[in-house]
Amino acid sequence: MAVLVKTENLKKHFHIGRGQILHAVDGISLTIDPNEILGLVGESGSGKSTFGKTLIGLHTRTSGQAYYDGSPLPDEFTTRDHLKYSQEMQMIFQDPYSSLNPRMTVLDIVGEGLRIQGTPGSEIRDRVADWLTRVGLNADHMSRYPHEFSGGQRQRIGIARAMIIEPKFVVCDEPISALDVSVQAQVINLLDELKQSLGLTLLFIAHDLSMVRYVSDRMAVMYLGSVVETGPANDVFFDAQHPYTKFLVESNPEPDPEIERNRGHQPILGEITSPVNVQPGCRFADRCPQVMDRCRRETPELIAKSGGREVACFLFE
Ligand SMILES: Nc1ncnc2c1ncn2[C@@H]1O[C@H](COP(=O)(O)OP(=O)(O)OP(=O)(O)O)[C@@H](O)[C@H]1O
Ligand SMILES: [Mg+2]
Repeated sequence: MAVLVKTENLKKHFHIGRGQILHAVDGISLTIDPNEILGLVGESGSGKSTFGKTLIGLHTRTSGQAYYDGSPLPDEFTTRDHLKYSQEMQMIFQDPYSSLNPRMTVLDIVGEGLRIQGTPGSEIRDRVADWLTRVGLNADHMSRYPHEFSGGQRQRIGIARAMIIEPKFVVCDEPISALDVSVQAQVINLLDELKQSLGLTLLFIAHDLSMVRYVSDRMAVMYLGSVVETGPANDVFFDAQHPYTKFLVESNPEPDPEIERNRGHQPILGEITSPVNVQPGCRFADRCPQVMDRCRRETPELIAKSGGREVACFLFE
C-alpha cells in the first residue's frame, strides 16, 4: 500500500537571537498510510506542533523533505500552494483561543474553506449548520463570534472548520485536551466515524499516552525534536523499548485514582533538556537511567525491529 504522507529527515530550526538556534524538529523520518491514525506523543516542548505545522507548510522547513500522495511538497508554500493543499490537508490547532479570527463569525470561520471552493452561500450555511451539529454545537450560534464560546466550544469550531471540506489528511494537534471528559469521548467517536466514512488519515498529536494509544493505529514517540520509538500503538504502550517511552508509560496518570495512589513507582527524571544549541549524542542521555558513555558521543538512529517497530537506542542494536 502506498503511503499518503512521508517525511525524510525533516528539520525545523528557529533562530532565536544572539546566534542561538533552537532545534524544534531535528530530523524526523516517518510515514503515514492512507486511512491510518498515527499518534504523535511526547512531553511539552518536544516539537510535536512544530512538526505538524511544518509538515503541512505552515512553517518553512529548514531542511529535509516531505511528500504527500507520492509527490514532494514545496520547500516554501506560496499562497497558491496553501489554497491547493488546504483542499487535501487540514489542521485542528492546539490553541482554540488564538487560532480563530475574533472578528469573524462562526459561519464565516467554518465556511471559509467552502467559500474558497466557490460553494454558493446558501449551501455554505446549510453545511456549516450540519457540521456545527456534528461536533456537538448549536447550529443557531453560527452568527456569534469566537469570544462568546468556551475553550472547549472553540476547539469544536476548529474541528468543524477543518472537517467541512472533507480533507484527506488532518493534523489534529491536541484536539481534545481543552474539552471536558464527556465531550472528549464524543469528539474521539466523531474522529473515528470520520476516519471510516471519509477514509480520513490523521496525525493525532497529544501528550496523554493512554489517549494516543486508544485513538491511534500506530504511534511515534518524540523527544526533543527526534522520534525515539515507533510501532503499533498497543505494542509501544504495553511493551515500551526506549527508556524514554518507558518513562512516559510509567508517568502516565492512571485514570483510576485508587490504582494511581497505590502504584508508588513514579520515576523522577527531571525536566526536558533545552533544544537550544544541542550537542551530538542521544538527546535523552542526561535523563536516561541506562545511559552509557557512547550515548554522549554518538546520536542513535531509528533502527527497524520485528513487528513493524523502530527504536533509536544503543541498548537495542
Ligand atoms: N515560532 C517559534 N519560534 C521559536 N521557537 C519556537 C517557535 N515555535 C516553537 N518553538 C520552540 O520549539 C520547541 C518545540 O515547540 P512545540 O510547540 O512544537 O512543542 P510541542 O511538543 O507541541 O509542545 P506542547 O505539548 O507544549 O504543545 C519549544 O522549545 C518551543 O519553545
Ligand atoms: Mg504543541
